[in-house]
Amino acid sequence: MHREQISRLAHADHPIAAPLDDDSVRALLEHAVPRDDARVLDLGCGTGEWLLRALAARPGLRAEGVDVSEGALEQARAAARRRGLGDRLVLHHGDAADFAADHAFDLVISVGAAHAFGGPGATLAAARRHLAPGGRVLVGDGYWEREPSAEAVAMLGDLADLPTTVDRVVADGWTPVHGHISTRRELDAYEWAWTGSLASWALDHPADPGSSQALETAAAHRDEWLRGYRDAFGFVCLVLRSTTGGTGPTG
Ligand SMILES: C[S@@+](CC[C@H](N)C(=O)[O-])C[C@H]1O[C@@H](n2cnc3c(N)ncnc32)[C@H](O)[C@@H]1O
Repeated sequence: MHREQISRLAHADHPIAAPLDDDSVRALLEHAVPRDDARVLDLGCGTGEWLLRALAARPGLRAEGVDVSEGALEQARAAARRRGLGDRLVLHHGDAADFAADHAFDLVISVGAAHAFGGPGATLAAARRHLAPGGRVLVGDGYWEREPSAEAVAMLGDLADLPTTVDRVVADGWTPVHGHISTRRELDAYEWAWTGSLASWALDHPADPGSSQALETAAAHRDEWLRGYRDAFGFVCLVLRSTTGGTGPTG
């Protein structure tokens, strides 16, 4: 079974591919979208769920998303059509690091996709290239809540603790104007949704050739989470404005 298919099944009940509940996503978007007719870009948009929710909340908004996964973009297109939002959403298939647009954006989102750029600093540098004066950035990434085991670092990479994560962003020329630290409930809900949806699909489709692999993948992921990183991993989203580079709020 292909990784994309695993991801699609694992996110069936949690379309935002990050540990945030619906209220947290709504509050972050409310703080991040600077005005009703904003142009919004999502780098590593996956199935486009952040953009779809932003579009649904503001009828004047226009949105673009970039992702390497054609399967995720196809899901985004279908969801946009279903929700009557397709005429305001443009999706680009390709590497987010190489994306070039002929206009700037009032909000650049990139949640859980820092690996696409080589790390959080490079993600912010990419976001800045697309940002209109006075625009905002909404980024989400992992951090260490506690000293991680070597196993956790091997699984999730070389993250920083939360104060260091924020210090680095500030040193890079950004001012946090809002943020959200995922709660233990959100972190656990995401992992239960991921492993539970995948396992449920496998149990519901015992004759499917991918069934046993799906069940094994769900069990392995659950074990890595519970034994490897649950105690140490945290997730933070920040709404940022450029400390020096903006010409003032756009809304
Ligand atoms: C954890 S998911 C997050 C998806 C979405 N931002 C969300 O919060 O629901 C990471 C996404 O980054 C995408 N991705 C990974 N490398 C990429 C790259 N080089 N360029 C664009 N997208 C990339 C993956 O295909 C995946 O959809």
